[in-house]
Amino acid sequence: MSGTQRPGDTGGPDPERPGPGPSRRLRRLRRSEAVRRLVREVTLSPADFVNPFFVVPGRRVRQEIDSMPGNYHLSVDELLKEVAEVAALDIPGVILFGLPETKDPEGSSAWDPAGPVQRAVSAVKAEFPDLLVMTDVCLCQYTDHGHCGLLALDGEVENDPTLERLAAVALSHARAGADVVAPSDMMDGRVLAIRRVLDAEGFTGTAILSYAVKYASAFYGPFREAAHSAPRTGDRRGYQMDPASGSRQAVDEALLDVEEGADMVMVKPALPYLDVVRAVREACLLPVAAYHVSGEYAMLRAAAERGWIDERAAALEALTAIKRAGADFVLTYYARRAVRWLSGEQ
Ligand code: PBG
Repeated sequence: MSGTQRPGDTGGPDPERPGPGPSRRLRRLRRSEAVRRLVREVTLSPADFVNPFFVVPGRRVRQEIDSMPGNYHLSVDELLKEVAEVAALDIPGVILFGLPETKDPEGSSAWDPAGPVQRAVSAVKAEFPDLLVMTDVCLCQYTDHGHCGLLALDGEVENDPTLERLAAVALSHARAGADVVAPSDMMDGRVLAIRRVLDAEGFTGTAILSYAVKYASAFYGPFREAAHSAPRTGDRRGYQMDPASGSRQAVDEALLDVEEGADMVMVKPALPYLDVVRAVREACLLPVAAYHVSGEYAMLRAAAERGWIDERAAALEALTAIKRAGADFVLTYYARRAVRWLSGEQ
């Protein structure tokens, strides 16, 4: 052996010295809950979550969504009851998705000032002015073909003509009082198009949370059932990202949206893309959100219903992992239950 370092100095056991065993014992800091709490690197708190809701027209509507137990189609009056829980649990925000009465090829009900989301935004802001109200900006719930933009005759989703529609949707949400608009369509240039229109109309304070890094994922299945937004023909692979494209493209997408004026960027889904969350976190200075999506929720719920998994432990572990990867906050259907679990409820 060369050099002056003794084997014992490397931190490993010294095979020539019988005796005490390992010189470093990492288990010392795992022996009690007290010490584990003291040295923990990641913690969850109510401030980490945003609670999604599905708003429908009408009154007294509260219909459980089959594929997402514990989540409902809610009319505005019923939504307010659920939002009251969110506020009472000190969760900072909600994100609203709408299911309109009518659909057409352009998705024109998406910018109807009397649409379910627009009405919900003003009702929630009136009753809970301190709560952050975010809205999903997309056309797929509103177009009869189910795509996130306008459809050309050849089946291609047309990018540029879609932008002004998306900006009109965002503006209608801002007018209703939304604090944050969140475009989820994956058209190129939408953040800039939305920012320009918001600024021109005086909504300089309305923030944009861009679904900057959104994959064409099978994990949105339960949501599409919930939002009646599955495409009639084809799929979303022509605009959402290929799951096998790596962090380089993800960072490219995120930085482009930063340049266009996004205030926060999102990665979606969350758990299968933790490497991407980390890469985006390291590449941008803006807050990074992650969406723990419907399929991620449904998997845990389904396994829990069968008694195959401890839902509380698994959900909190998943949410912790998403934060550990670098997310500043998480959009999750577990928001309220997670906060209750964290405060000791079973
Ligand atoms: C709309 C949109 C989707 C989700 C959020 N916004 C569905 C999709 O892109 O098909 C998915 C959310 C979830 O699965 O929980 N474009």
